[in-house]
Amino acid sequence: MKRLQRTKSRAALRDLVAEIGFSQSQLIQPLFAVEDAAEARPVDTLPGNATLSLAQLGTQVERDVEAGVRHFLLFPVPRQKDERNFDPSFAAAAIGELRRRAGREAVIWVDTCLCSHTHTGHCALFGADARQDLPATLAELNRLALAYAGAGSDGISPSDMNDGRVASLRAALDAAGFDLTPIMSYSSKFASNFYGPFRQAAQSSPQFGDRRGYQLDVRSRRDALAASVRCAEEGADLLMVKPGMSSIDLIAPIAEATGRPVGAYQVSGEYASLAFLAREGLADFDAALLETWFVLRRAGASFIITYGARDARRVGLAAH
Ligand code: PBG
Repeated sequence: MKRLQRTKSRAALRDLVAEIGFSQSQLIQPLFAVEDAAEARPVDTLPGNATLSLAQLGTQVERDVEAGVRHFLLFPVPRQKDERNFDPSFAAAAIGELRRRAGREAVIWVDTCLCSHTHTGHCALFGADARQDLPATLAELNRLALAYAGAGSDGISPSDMNDGRVASLRAALDAAGFDLTPIMSYSSKFASNFYGPFRQAAQSSPQFGDRRGYQLDVRSRRDALAASVRCAEEGADLLMVKPGMSSIDLIAPIAEATGRPVGAYQVSGEYASLAFLAREGLADFDAALLETWFVLRRAGASFIITYGARDARRVGLAAH
């Protein structure tokens, strides 16, 4: 059954996809939670962001909620890297801590991918013949998603770009009684050179090759549209383009083709580039950041995932 109710089930979800007005309610703040406390440190290239231990995570989200953040996108980074049977217990603990400290009003989305869990740093599993093992990949994603939902995550956000993941996640969630848990799919995600600061923070750099075997080729508009259309058909409630700025031409066409809300992920390299300009005295960081949000919104983005969501008041979003 086609469910249109998932994005209606709470005020925060209705606000996230509202088509009139633009405020902090439509921004999503990423959070990096690291199990290895020795890895907890500021991410210098993403001002205002850090890789956080569990204890720091609690303090940070309390401050964020105070600063008006309503939506969080959690990236759990476990210490242990494995081949298969990934252990979701650290992620579950981080979700629990978030829920306790952020309160019931906050919406917790959890990035669901394998690259922070695998030795290879890839978002897919490979068989002995070095070919991708798709059934095993999908099974592991399902296992993680069910653990996240069970731990209290409000939404699941698959970022892996493997064929069939949304249908498979939807079926697994429904079967386990999570039929009102929305899926925010990274639906048109390109193989990009702008993910560098993120991969350092999330310990997710590919150890061989690159991600062009599953992420989109920037030269192919047809594929990019088809990927989002398929996610919508498979049951994704919210769609997304990524990197945001270099995908602005796709946002409105995807929204038209699917009738679903389409967000934009202002990725780490895009955000960091503003910081670099500012550091050189060549731009005002807050003004440049606000400009990029307006451009993404002008292009038709329903919501924006940005490392500056917590700074929306300082940046001056409310004043506009
Ligand atoms: C994991 C994932 C990545 C990002 C979000 N989820 C990295 C990648 O695909 O290589 C990038 C986010 C950013 O750069 O801000 N699959």
